[in-house]
Amino acid sequence: MSDSPRSTPASIAPASGKLAIFTPGLGAVATTFVAGVERVRRGLSAPIGSLTQMATIRLGKRTDGRSPLIKDFVPLASLDDLVFGAWDPIPDDAFTAATKAGVLEKADLEPIADFLKGITPMPAVFENRYVTRISGATNVKTGATKRDLAEQLRADIRGFMAKHGATRGAMVWCGSTETYIKPGPQHQTIEAFEAAMAANDDAIAPSMLYAWAAIMEGVPYCNGAPNLSADFPAMVELANRQGVPISGRDFKTGQTWMKTVIAPGLKARMLGLEGWYSTNILGNRDGEVLDDPASFKTKEESKLSVLHTILQPELYPELYKDFSHVVRINYYPPRGDNKEGWDNIDIKGWLGYPMQIKVNFLCRDSILAAPIVLDLALFSDFAGRAGMKGIQEWLSFYYKAPQVAEGLNPEHDLFIQQTKLKNTLRHLMGEEQITHLGLEYYQ
Ligand SMILES: NC(=O)c1ccc[n+]([C@@H]2O[C@H](COP(=O)([O-])OP(=O)(O)OC[C@H]3O[C@@H](n4cnc5c(N)ncnc54)[C@H](O)[C@@H]3O)[C@@H](O)[C@H]2O)c1
Repeated sequence: MSDSPRSTPASIAPASGKLAIFTPGLGAVATTFVAGVERVRRGLSAPIGSLTQMATIRLGKRTDGRSPLIKDFVPLASLDDLVFGAWDPIPDDAFTAATKAGVLEKADLEPIADFLKGITPMPAVFENRYVTRISGATNVKTGATKRDLAEQLRADIRGFMAKHGATRGAMVWCGSTETYIKPGPQHQTIEAFEAAMAANDDAIAPSMLYAWAAIMEGVPYCNGAPNLSADFPAMVELANRQGVPISGRDFKTGQTWMKTVIAPGLKARMLGLEGWYSTNILGNRDGEVLDDPASFKTKEESKLSVLHTILQPELYPELYKDFSHVVRINYYPPRGDNKEGWDNIDIKGWLGYPMQIKVNFLCRDSILAAPIVLDLALFSDFAGRAGMKGIQEWLSFYYKAPQVAEGLNPEHDLFIQQTKLKNTLRHLMGEEQITHLGLEYYQ
């Protein structure tokens, strides 16, 4: 299996030296992440929402009383060792971008303005045809072929790491959602993919070039958007060949996170589902990009798959066959980054009697996404040092549409995902894994 551990604790390389965290995209999520890490480093804020910083892990028997923090149990990079590199077609530095994104308040940004102003995006590989709603894209690379552009990204990675004295890197895609692309013959083998890059094939989107460049440089790649990016056979083959961890797709925040909490609860109690209607209003740039039907289609695909996989209508036709599932995202500028989501859930109970659940979630998207960026970068770096390569299914916990080996169904249930994540850490560190028997005592 691609993500099966191949190491014992003794063979996990230590997290010594600096870790460069690369984000293609320096928008709302990336700046909230970077600013947050800096505030935590300066003792100004707490890293709420991050498992690597706050979660404990139960080890051994219940009676042993061993529940260290994950960061004390697993050799993760320390926040003080992180340096941040970004690309964005919009040339704003991180302070300006964060101010425009409007997620964090001025009072939180001002004390770290010096630090944020020092982070300026490298010229991006960007084409408007893949993200139609971005204007002001002046900070863009030029090159004769997509292969040339990807080589420039590799040079950026090397140059940034040398300049900052980083020993390792991790890349998390925080760029806009690209238009929907179906995997074609260009995505099946490394040779076909590289030939398509050289031929400037339309099926090769910018995010794929970043993924290719990262993997070629030995930098783990995590995909926070629903774009294909690294989720096709050629890239998986490349990651395995280069010995690099990859994972995706699409950060599991807001509404989908709620779905993966509530749906397992319905199924656990054998309650039926007639329909689930989800609607969102949001007014940030991501909302504007998703207002374009082609970008929304990419997002919709990633949001819709969740309920079917959790509820398994094939096993429980009486409860879950043919339920309606509708997802809507509406761009509504006054709302900014503070999205509002409504879910109307029609369920049925004993003797088929109908009931309804309504969820009104006033969530801050980037506040939920930022700790995910941190955890993905730190865990992927750890996985690389532990000799893991290819698709990291144990990181499914963080994704709406988890990338899995071909032919497998992704696991969406948040609690199964959490168990898999923690068991992978236990296993890699030579501790006993905790099985589903008595699971409730161990998290
Ligand atoms: N916030 C969340 O909760 C959440 C959840 C899941 C997924 N996402 C995804 O994360 C991504 C970032 O979200 P955001 O709210 O920060 O959006 P944003 O629009 O604020 O930032 C995205 C940035 O990416 C840049 N960009 C676009 N194409 C690029 C390219 N080819 N190379 C480099 N930069 C590029 C844009 O110029 C922009 O600055 C989106 O794809 C979004 O769908 C966000």
